Amino acid sequence: MTFSEVEQITGYVGNFKVRIRKKARYVNETECTACRECADICPVAVPDEYQQGFSSRKAIYIPFPQAVPSAYVLDMENCLGNNPIACGKCQEVCEKKCIDYDMKDERVEVDVGTVIVATGVDVFDPSTIPEFGYGRYENVISSMEFERLICAGGPTEGHFIRPSDRQRPQRIGFVQCVGSRSRNGGNPYCSNICCMNTVKDTLLLKDHYPDIQSSVYYMDIRAFGKGFEDLYMRSKEEGVRYIRGIPGRIDEDPATKNLLLTVENTTANRIEKHELDMVVLSVGVIPQRDAGAVQQLLTLSKTSDGFFMESHPKLKPVDAPTKGVFFAGCAEAPKDVKDSVTQAGAAASRSNILLNAGKVKVEAITSMINKSSCTMCGLCTRVCPYNAITAPDKKKGIYPVVIEAACTGCGTCSAECPFDAITMRHFTDQQIMAQVESLLAEKPMEKILGFACNWCSYAGGDMAGTSRLQYPSSIVLVRTMCSGRVDRKFVLHAFRCGAPLVLVSGCHFSDCHYINAVTWTQRRVERLWNDLDKWGIRPERLQLEWISAAEGQKFARVMRELEELRKQVTMEEVAFTKEVLQNKK
Ligand code: FES
Repeated sequence: MTFSEVEQITGYVGNFKVRIRKKARYVNETECTACRECADICPVAVPDEYQQGFSSRKAIYIPFPQAVPSAYVLDMENCLGNNPIACGKCQEVCEKKCIDYDMKDERVEVDVGTVIVATGVDVFDPSTIPEFGYGRYENVISSMEFERLICAGGPTEGHFIRPSDRQRPQRIGFVQCVGSRSRNGGNPYCSNICCMNTVKDTLLLKDHYPDIQSSVYYMDIRAFGKGFEDLYMRSKEEGVRYIRGIPGRIDEDPATKNLLLTVENTTANRIEKHELDMVVLSVGVIPQRDAGAVQQLLTLSKTSDGFFMESHPKLKPVDAPTKGVFFAGCAEAPKDVKDSVTQAGAAASRSNILLNAGKVKVEAITSMINKSSCTMCGLCTRVCPYNAITAPDKKKGIYPVVIEAACTGCGTCSAECPFDAITMRHFTDQQIMAQVESLLAEKPMEKILGFACNWCSYAGGDMAGTSRLQYPSSIVLVRTMCSGRVDRKFVLHAFRCGAPLVLVSGCHFSDCHYINAVTWTQRRVERLWNDLDKWGIRPERLQLEWISAAEGQKFARVMRELEELRKQVTMEEVAFTKEVLQNKK
C-alpha cells in the first residue's frame, strides 16, 4: 500500500492487528493511465522535492519516475481546485474522469503474523556546520543534490552544471564525513556509505567529463567490501586527487562565485588553500526523523545513535526485541545497498520461518498473575516493556492477563508489583531469596552480594574469568534475566542476612535486552537509596553498576573497588542494619 501510513499496531507475534490510513490521492489510481494531461494544464508550480528543489513540479504530479503505482497524486495543500473549486482544470481535461476532489482518507485493518520494519534513513543537514557555507553559497551542494544533477532523469537531464551560472564546473571538491564521525556538530558514528558513494561519483564524473578535476578531502577512506578497494584504486588511477584532511572552512568569492577551501593536508603537514568551482559535501545519514512514531507503535528500543536496536548484535541481527518484528536496511544501522538487500532477505526468511511453522515457541520464563493478591492497580500493565499484560478494569472486575506469547520474562512486572501478585516462573521470589540466604549463610561479612543480569553483567563476569583477570573472590552473584527483576525485597533481604555491601548490575541503558526494563531498575535503586538514607543506613552500601558482556576489565575493576568499600563496613553497622530492617518492606 503506497501513500499510506500505519496508525496503530496491536497484538503480538502471530496476531498483529494493523490499522493503516490510505491517504486520499484524489486520483483514481486504477483508472489513471499517467497520460500527463492533468499535469500539463495545472497552473501551479512548486519546488520538486525529489529533484532536491532544482526544478518544479505541478500540484498534480507523479512523485518520482519509478513510483508505484504509476498514477498521479494531487497535492491538496497547493491545489487551487479545492473547496470551493477555483480551478478544476485537471478534472476537466481528464478523459478517464479519474479526479475526485472529494476523495477521503480510507482506514483499513489487516491481520498479520509478523512485521518487517524497513523505514530507511534521512540525511544529515549540512547547514548546521556553518564553516562549509551550505545554504549560503550556491555552489556548495550536498551529495544528494549531486546525484540529481548528474542523473539522466534529473532536472538537467544529466548535463552537469554548477547552480550559480549553469556552466559546467572544472574543479570540484568532495568533502567527506560531513555529519559523521564527529562529536562536534555531527554524529559520532560512521555512515558507512559515503566513502564509496564519493568514489563512485568521481568515476562517474571522469566517465562523463574526463577534463574535470576532482579532489576528495577525507579522514580515511573506508573501502572495505568486495571490489571496493579496486574501485578506489581505479578512481586514483584516473587522476582523482585524494587529500587527507577535512577542510576547516570554505569561503566564496562574491564576484566569481568560486570557492576557496582551507584544509590542513595532514600527509604534507601544511595548511593549503584550494580554489574550486564547486564543492560537494558528502553528507552522512541519520535515523528517520519520525522513527519515534514507529518505535512507539511496536515498542522498539533504540541504540544511543538513534537507530533501532536489534535483539542481539551477533546472534539475532535482524530480529527486534519484540517477537515477530524484524529489521531490514538502514532502520537498524547505516548500510549500503548490498547489505540492505542481504538483511532484507534475512528478515523475510526469519519471518517466513515463523509463518510457515504456524506456531511460536514461547519463553518458559514468563510471569503469572495471582488473582487472590492482585488489586487491579494496573502498575504491571504500565511497566511491561512489551505491552504483554492487558489492562485491568476494576469496575468490571477484569484482572490483568499476561499474554504469554508476548512476555519475554524480564521480570519487571513482578519486581514492581507492590502486592506480590506476580510470580516469575523459574525466577520466583522464593528461589531468589533462598539463593541470597544460602550465599550469605556463612561468613557474610566477607561477602559482597551481587545481582547480575544474564545478558550483560553476568556475561561480563564470565568474560573477566575467561580472560584470567584477577578480582576479589568476595563477590557472590545471583543471576536474574534482567536487572529489572531485582525486587527491592531481595536487596533488603540481603542486608537482613548480613551483607555488608549489595550490588545491582545490569546492561548499559541502550543495551538492555528487554527494551527499557533497565530504567525501572534505576528508579527502584534510587528509591532504595532514599529509604536507606532515611533509616540511617549508608546508601553507598547499595551499589548500582552498568557492565556489558564485553567489559570483563570493567567487571574486575568494579569488583576491586567494591572490595575496598566492603572493608570499610563495620560489624556494628551490619548489626544496626539488621535491626532497622527487621520490619521494613
Ligand atoms: Fe541486562 Fe535488562 S537485560 S539489564
